[in-house]
Amino acid sequence: MKKFDGFKPIDADPAKCVFKTDARSTVWQTADGNWVIKRFGHNRIRQILSWLIGLHPGQRECRRARALAAQELPVVQVAKTRLISGRLWVATEFVGPSMQQLVASGALRDERQRLPLLSQLADLASRLVRANCFFRDFQLANIVVDANGHAKLIDVGSARGLSSESQISRMLNLLIETMLKEGATIEDCLTVLGMILERSPACESAARRIIGTLQGEVEQDTATPAML
Ligand SMILES: Nc1ncnc2c1ncn2[C@@H]1O[C@H](COP(=O)(O)OP(=O)(O)OP(=O)(O)O)[C@@H](O)[C@H]1O
Ligand SMILES: [Mg+2]
Repeated sequence: MKKFDGFKPIDADPAKCVFKTDARSTVWQTADGNWVIKRFGHNRIRQILSWLIGLHPGQRECRRARALAAQELPVVQVAKTRLISGRLWVATEFVGPSMQQLVASGALRDERQRLPLLSQLADLASRLVRANCFFRDFQLANIVVDANGHAKLIDVGSARGLSSESQISRMLNLLIETMLKEGATIEDCLTVLGMILERSPACESAARRIIGTLQGEVEQDTATPAML
């Protein structure tokens, strides 16, 4: 891990470095490009109180990232957290573009990138299930891809133990919904589900149900994210 040289204010050119900003949090890349900072935005008193008892969402994210890595899942680790004037700041090492950015920018239309990217998505889904992990927020925006083409999970605060088949369906549904929303084709989705079927017997019925729904739409090619 690169040396972390401290939290800095938001950089001068927000259009270039801010990934998102809303009432919940602001997320940006540092000027040197090495780090991503998430600053939680909700009520400061609640942040201080939850931080004192160890239940701040940022602390949870940090703990879950460690726990999942201990199960050999590829998860970006929190490098440092700091409570500044009632708001928690969390730093992670910058990895690379998110799957959301890649799919939205047409990476799946490039034949050299398509199968490796879909294979990384299938790999993550089957590894989560194998590790008995229910990651409620398993969506393209929470997957980043490093310079070697390896996908890693971020924002894993919502990860829990997997306790039912319907949770597998929820994870796969969200993945497919977000793929369609960012412009992936039904064929891309069917390919990723086929790969998941091959890799994870536990995903079989959830994957087959979604495949059935998507195949019903193939002729017209009218699948929408809401359809699932
Ligand atoms: N370590 C990282 N490397 C590369 N990009 C990152 C990294 N962390 C976050 N990002 C980018 O910032 C975006 C938002 O980050 P993150 O998912 O942590 O916040 P969020 O979902 O908005 O937060 P929350 O759900 O807590 O409000 C990601 O979709 C990704 O594009
Ligand atoms: Mg996120």
